[in-house]
Amino acid sequence: MALRTTLSVIKADVGSIGGHLRPSRRMLDCVRLEVASAGRSVLLDHFVSTTGDDIAILMTHRHGVGDARVHEIAWHAFRKATETAREQGLYAAGQDLLTSSFAGNVRGMGPAVAEMEFDERESEPFLLFAADKTDPGAYNLPLYLAFADPMHSPGLLLSPEVGRGFRFSVMDVAHDAADAMIELEAPQDLYDLATLLRDTERYVVESVRSRATGDIAAVVSTTRLHNIAGKYTGKDDPVMLVRVQKQFPATGEVLGPFSMGHYVSGGMRGSHTLPLMPVAQGAEVSWFDGPPMVSCAAFCVHDGKLTEPVDAFAHPFWDEVRYRVAKKAIDMRQQGFFGAAMLPMSELEYTGIRERLDRLQPRFHTRTAKLRTQKV
Ligand code: F6R
Ligand code: MG
Ligand code: MG
Repeated sequence: MALRTTLSVIKADVGSIGGHLRPSRRMLDCVRLEVASAGRSVLLDHFVSTTGDDIAILMTHRHGVGDARVHEIAWHAFRKATETAREQGLYAAGQDLLTSSFAGNVRGMGPAVAEMEFDERESEPFLLFAADKTDPGAYNLPLYLAFADPMHSPGLLLSPEVGRGFRFSVMDVAHDAADAMIELEAPQDLYDLATLLRDTERYVVESVRSRATGDIAAVVSTTRLHNIAGKYTGKDDPVMLVRVQKQFPATGEVLGPFSMGHYVSGGMRGSHTLPLMPVAQGAEVSWFDGPPMVSCAAFCVHDGKLTEPVDAFAHPFWDEVRYRVAKKAIDMRQQGFFGAAMLPMSELEYTGIRERLDRLQPRFHTRTAKLRTQKV
């Protein structure tokens, strides 16, 4: 029997140039060197990339999900990159490493993790998504559209296997003590699923499985940094792995929903609502600490070896999408801090508004019944 393959992607922001824009080349060289040397006896292959200010380390191996040796490789690479960032005087050096020592698993220690283990198909195409300046709920809508909506994903009608539907595991990220999970099936539970997924700050898709075969189809990093650190420590900039084709949606069906440029949480000071822009690998952050962005590297993996990536959002088609997303973003910015433009209180990354409201609270007074009837 073929050995099972595990894909592990671990991602962190451990410092960047110009304030949250991009890690330095020296940091990247350092991560590549560390992973190559430490991973020699543990990993089958690896790939290191950046999206905005985040570094994502994709690793293939035989050790299953949550393996301490695999996590430690990423942890040490990020520690080394932090040292480099400090030497270079980069901004927010070591930001996502919330503890000083490694405790067996990077989950709960700051970095974002998404992992899946499977028996490789004859050909095993998959996609690595990495988003910056947003949070894990950003993937709720594209996953819903790709795995549950035939308007976007015709394979749900055309392919008998895909048409058997998918099982979504959804996490309530407001539970800090233990993970609160629910499993819902598409299409049977569609309205229940929609009811949860609309609330992207509270309910986050953690994984999707094929109902036809039980195979893992997608995994998302559901880390919420402020739940770990007790306060906001930057946005949670999520990664996602999606297997495609055959019993899963086609690559284009998974990419398709990203042409919408849907509104997500993120951008300036992690506190705004802005559209998600699909960008090329290695894209830098610019306008208004954003806009929130997502990259996609497409691979095939065979006997644990990765092909070179295809940069899925580098195609000229996405230039038009980027243009539209930029327009949507500029339009939203017209209303500054009013209403939907700025995130609700519970999601603000800073305490300024809360402190102001606390100061104002004693000045509120109740009107008497008599005054209420008078003209003001
Ligand atoms: C995410 C990111 C932002 C910042 C946020 C606050 O990659 O960079 O979420 O964490 O803009 O950053 P400061 O307070 O350092 O400007
Ligand atoms: Mg950052
Ligand atoms: Mg980031």
